[in-house]
Amino acid sequence: AGSSQFSTVSVGASPVAEEMAVKEAPKEIFLKDYKPTGYHFDTVELKFVLSEKKTTVVSKIRVLPRNSSESPPLVLDGRDVKLLFVKINGEERKLEEVELTSRHLTLKSLPVQPFDLEIGSEIHPETNLSLEGLYKSSSGMFCTQCEAEGFRKITFYQDRPDVMAKFTTRIEADKAQCPVLLSNGNLIDSGDLESLTCCGQNGFHYAVWEDPFKKPCYLFALVAGQLTSRDDTFKTRSGRDVQLRIWTPAQDVPKTEHAMHALKLSMKWDEDVYGLEYDLDLFNIVAVPDFDMGAMENKSLNIFNSKLVLASAETATDVDYATILGVIGHEYFHNWTGNRVTCRDWFQLSLKEGLTVFRDQEFSSDMGSRPVKRIGDVALLRTAQFSEDAGPMAHPVRPHSYIKMDNFYTVTVYKKGAEVVRMYQTLLGKDGFRKGMDLYFERHDGQAVTCEDFFAAMRDANSANLSVFLRWYSQAGTPILTVSTAYDAAARSYTVKCKQEIPSTPGQPVKEPTLIPLAVGLLNSKGEDMVLTELFDGGSLKSLKDTAGGPAKTAVLLVDKEEQEFTFLNLPEKPVPSFLRNFSAPVRLVTPTVTDDDLLFLLAHDSDEFNRWEAGQTMGRKLMLDLIPKAQRNEQLAEFVAKALTLPGESELMDLMEVADPDAVHTVRKFVIRELASKLKQDFLKTVTENRSSDPHYTFDHKNKARRSLKNLALGYLCSLDEADTTELALKEYKSATNMTDQFAALSSLCQNPGDVRDEALANFYEQWKDETLVVNEWLVLQSMSDIPGNVKNMRRLLDHPSFDMKNPNKVYSLIGPFRRTAVNFHAKDGSGYEFLAEVTLQLDKMNPQVASRMISSLSRWKRFDEGRQSLAKAQLERIAKTDGLSENVFEIASKSLA
Ligand code: PHE
Ligand code: ZN
Repeated sequence: AGSSQFSTVSVGASPVAEEMAVKEAPKEIFLKDYKPTGYHFDTVELKFVLSEKKTTVVSKIRVLPRNSSESPPLVLDGRDVKLLFVKINGEERKLEEVELTSRHLTLKSLPVQPFDLEIGSEIHPETNLSLEGLYKSSSGMFCTQCEAEGFRKITFYQDRPDVMAKFTTRIEADKAQCPVLLSNGNLIDSGDLESLTCCGQNGFHYAVWEDPFKKPCYLFALVAGQLTSRDDTFKTRSGRDVQLRIWTPAQDVPKTEHAMHALKLSMKWDEDVYGLEYDLDLFNIVAVPDFDMGAMENKSLNIFNSKLVLASAETATDVDYATILGVIGHEYFHNWTGNRVTCRDWFQLSLKEGLTVFRDQEFSSDMGSRPVKRIGDVALLRTAQFSEDAGPMAHPVRPHSYIKMDNFYTVTVYKKGAEVVRMYQTLLGKDGFRKGMDLYFERHDGQAVTCEDFFAAMRDANSANLSVFLRWYSQAGTPILTVSTAYDAAARSYTVKCKQEIPSTPGQPVKEPTLIPLAVGLLNSKGEDMVLTELFDGGSLKSLKDTAGGPAKTAVLLVDKEEQEFTFLNLPEKPVPSFLRNFSAPVRLVTPTVTDDDLLFLLAHDSDEFNRWEAGQTMGRKLMLDLIPKAQRNEQLAEFVAKALTLPGESELMDLMEVADPDAVHTVRKFVIRELASKLKQDFLKTVTENRSSDPHYTFDHKNKARRSLKNLALGYLCSLDEADTTELALKEYKSATNMTDQFAALSSLCQNPGDVRDEALANFYEQWKDETLVVNEWLVLQSMSDIPGNVKNMRRLLDHPSFDMKNPNKVYSLIGPFRRTAVNFHAKDGSGYEFLAEVTLQLDKMNPQVASRMISSLSRWKRFDEGRQSLAKAQLERIAKTDGLSENVFEIASKSLA
């Protein structure tokens, strides 16, 4: 189609070349500087004429000045967009009269009455490798990604979430190339275009979409291409029929069954648990293979990374099935928490993300095993978030400033944010929390709001005094909560002494105590929960009941001072305490008075399943940390006795050391695994045999998942022994597997040990699955995360493998991502791992800065290591920081890491 696109828009003055625009420097943006805009946007009509080389976009905006007595300049954001014309109330503005830089278009002398603003612009989807704005996917379709600040790559606009408007979108495109044209809302018109005789536009067609709900532009979406849908319907509880469609290339439609099922479960769950109904007659999901993130909640047109939609028993594992369920839920739940009520500015991101993660966690818990879900979530929080909170990029759940917002889609905002929401529920109870949610929607439907607004709704609906709770939003760092106890037999009382301390973080040297809900249970000598009747809490005596008014077995202590004492009364014997049940707050718990015997007792008896697991983890951490000095002195480790099954990971242990020592941590962990495997070999063999399935048909339910994960865990331990019979067993499991969960687990087990068997298994697996991209990605993951010696060489080879493509984020996440978590290879003593990561980052930064900055962030904690590693890592960071033409994304991470 080429330049012919011009014929469909009226071209005003000659286009201003982008290269001529004044370059603006990157700058830091602060929460405290927030100001509302001088202009509201009421309605927006967009018209796209799609073509990969040149797409024209005309936007017609109804602008309402906030103040009818003055007309401040209207500053529009725009990046990599070529301006064609500007009209105010139909009259063209001379382009000499507007101010255009590399980032902004500024209009002055505007009417004080409402007016129409029309802007013509041009963009280039094919060369847009950043995957934000409008881009052409490798699968051939056109696709948009606008959160956080991608809409400015489509057209000039006030690209911020507090500008909410009603959008109508007209798409014109070649009918053969793009038979399917989608945008937000309802389809109100479509048809063929008169063939224009000039310019090869034969066969164009159009569609017009209208979204009746006001929304910020980050929720805008457009998709056009050759897509086929799986269709279904959902009847809402008020009786409306909603059309559900999941769009993929035709050959993938069979793999969308699970996603569709998950969508219907999500819709039902939100009605049952929150009384929230879907609000349009159509809900679309599109799967794309090139996507920076997991998925995006665009109004009624969710766009998903294919990895989080497509599944079949042969190609996806139990973990994949569970992840898809959670993410489909997450994006669907955003319709209320994010879309109907959105964020005032990007500092408030956790308002929608923390809340929606909490909702998807609860959804997954209700659909599967609640304790298993909680354990997984806490394990991730502890490794990824706690370490972020302890490094140079530490930031509060609501950051105070940023250079590039993309860098703040973090585990802190998402996962610690979800813990903050969970704490409201722990403090207010399930019913109280629901009341708070109801009030939040009653007050704020259709608005762009702040974290204080959410807090106020929770507080007001419950007439609660949440005192210093807001500090969870403003202070970075993981609080350390030290809890010690004393039993007074004569008084039959048990005193719990709490001390909280929040470590200083960059820019926040001094912290104030926050409100920590500490859930406590007390076990008697039979292992039963004691009934908690009375609590003396500083100034007052409280009688304790559970939420239904029955006898209390868990009490939530409100710890809001630096040091504080609580005393339980009427306890006939000295209890074994179970602290922080269900992980009631995102803190590091230190319990000097809890003994190893207490931990073993909790492991056997605690009614709180999370804490049963936790007792085993605490044992595992203690035992391994005790062994580390021995490993560092090259001593024998043989006295270790097996106590726990799934051990805390390498990075968790490194985080707990003064100076992280990757080699010693690796040695110890490998040693412990082998010790366990050899001591328990017979049990593990039995576990494998007894948990094989007799049914070749794959079922994704709790019983089968549990069986498979136990069998595969046992197989992993056995293979750590690297003995002939264990290798043979794994090969047999590999060959007889009838689903990907089992096949991949067997492959992973075999891959622990370098050698021919490993190489052949990997080659065999690739040969079998080379046409299934998502499976091949997991094959890359397996090699990337490997701790076989000298793996950097293999990594470099894989960069040139036909299955790798630097332009595709999933490929990068698979091949480069896991490597950064390997103690021995990423942190190789010779610096080869750091060097490799720096090289890849620089190459990647030229294509996709968001993905590049995500990769390099793992160099940020270089100060945690020994001097040798410090200087090697620092050298790589400096090399990156001084590279010409670096993106703002990578610049922010590299410079903050070096600061
Ligand atoms: N808002 C998306 C989610 O969490 C994540 C996302 C952010 C996707 C930015 C793309 C870009 O649901
Ligand atoms: Zn989200």
